Amino acid sequence: MVVAINLNVKETKGTISRHLYGQFAEHLGRCIYEGLWVGVDSPIPNTDGIRNDVLEALKKLNIPVLRWPGGCFADEYHWKDGIGPKESRKRMVNTHWGGVVENNHFGTHEFFRLCELLDCEPYICGNVGSGTVQEMSEWVEYMTFDGESPMADWRRENGREQPWELKYFGVGNENWGCGGNMRPEYYADLYRRYQTYARNYRDNHLYKIAGGANVDDYNWTEVLMREAGRFMDGLSLHSYTIPGSWEEKRPALGFDEAEWFETMKKSLHMDELITGHSAIMDKYDPEKRVGLIVDEWGTWFLPEPGTNPGFLYQQNTLRDALVAGIHLNIFQNHSSRVKMANIAQMVNVLQAMILTEGSKLVLTPTYHVFDMYQVHQDAKLLEVDFESPTYSYGDESIPQISVSASINEVGVIHISACNLHHAEDAPVHVCLNGVEISEVVGTLLTHASLGAYNSFEQPETVHPIVFEGAVLEGGNLSFVLPSASVAVFALR
Ligand code: AHR
Repeated sequence: MVVAINLNVKETKGTISRHLYGQFAEHLGRCIYEGLWVGVDSPIPNTDGIRNDVLEALKKLNIPVLRWPGGCFADEYHWKDGIGPKESRKRMVNTHWGGVVENNHFGTHEFFRLCELLDCEPYICGNVGSGTVQEMSEWVEYMTFDGESPMADWRRENGREQPWELKYFGVGNENWGCGGNMRPEYYADLYRRYQTYARNYRDNHLYKIAGGANVDDYNWTEVLMREAGRFMDGLSLHSYTIPGSWEEKRPALGFDEAEWFETMKKSLHMDELITGHSAIMDKYDPEKRVGLIVDEWGTWFLPEPGTNPGFLYQQNTLRDALVAGIHLNIFQNHSSRVKMANIAQMVNVLQAMILTEGSKLVLTPTYHVFDMYQVHQDAKLLEVDFESPTYSYGDESIPQISVSASINEVGVIHISACNLHHAEDAPVHVCLNGVEISEVVGTLLTHASLGAYNSFEQPETVHPIVFEGAVLEGGNLSFVLPSASVAVFALR
């Protein structure tokens, strides 16, 4: 069956926020320490302590926004421990993640420096679970106040004269779980209280994000929107793709076709979740003022054998590339409500862009998908109308094809398409409805082996190649999308 896609280019459907391509870096395992921060005295070449090779690779992704310091770590993080001379910073135990010593060498100043080097916006998550209202309020003052005040003066003593620009501010994380095990009613009240004292100084206007639901906890969204919706700019949602179950996760490598199918199916579930949470948000906020912020998503497998299980270090295969492509298509197609998404996590943790080992680095298949898809950032969403063939495995069926499309400010159309099927190619025909296109350039990410990944020994096993065989005929586009692949086409 040929997949017939009808692309309506005449009518655009709003802007795809570049923030859908956001990242997340937590004090977890080797994400911050080793992955990003090596310190100024490290033999690994660095800029103010941040490793250059990782910076260089990340810069190519045009990362729009970076969430920090957690995650679960955020609700145990006391920001005052992470400022001032490094030798006198407090050492603490990272109880959530591996029980290792956190020396607080990477703190507020280092985080803003990282954002500056990446040219991305900071997204800071404050501590509600174990922090006070005063502590959160003073952090905002420290970062953003320009006048004379105890916190602004302290910042100056620590070497930063000007306040930083900070827009995105989270009021706690997973407050239904590691962030305090609260009921939504209780958290809604706490949210209202904490956010009151997160002040807007000068022209720095905070975009306040309330801690949102876990997966399909629709009641959480209902209560938060009802009780606190008018005090927030964004409401978060966390949902990971976990083959097996939370209790019995599966390895990242060595999976079979059944697990491949299960992973695809679970990725597509994000669409249902966004639809469900959006419907509740629409009830309280029909103007869509409050953004749905999917600030944790991605695959979660068993940690690699021989690594600290609390470090959540996992390999990243072609399967992860598909998970990324599917999610990004879903976020884009829901961009009227989804205003930010942050994959977990940027380096060495869960579905990472980059893995490091000492001074070595590899770019994962997920990195390549983010690279290929970045053309959609801030472009206008186009409606793609099509009926997907079915991908059946055992007695279950899912759509085989995932697509999204956009048009940028100079009129270039981009189509991103994923073929979820582990073995069957998909012939595709895109009707362009009379739009004049004279050139198509495609990029393809695939591999003959479903479990292919980039190792330190063979870092180029999965990498993008030119898509051969996309044809423009009679003003329409045809191509055969290989099984287990992600492709992006540019039409001019
Ligand atoms: O990303 C890893 C953890 O997953 C985060 O710390 C937490 O918010 C979530 O449960």
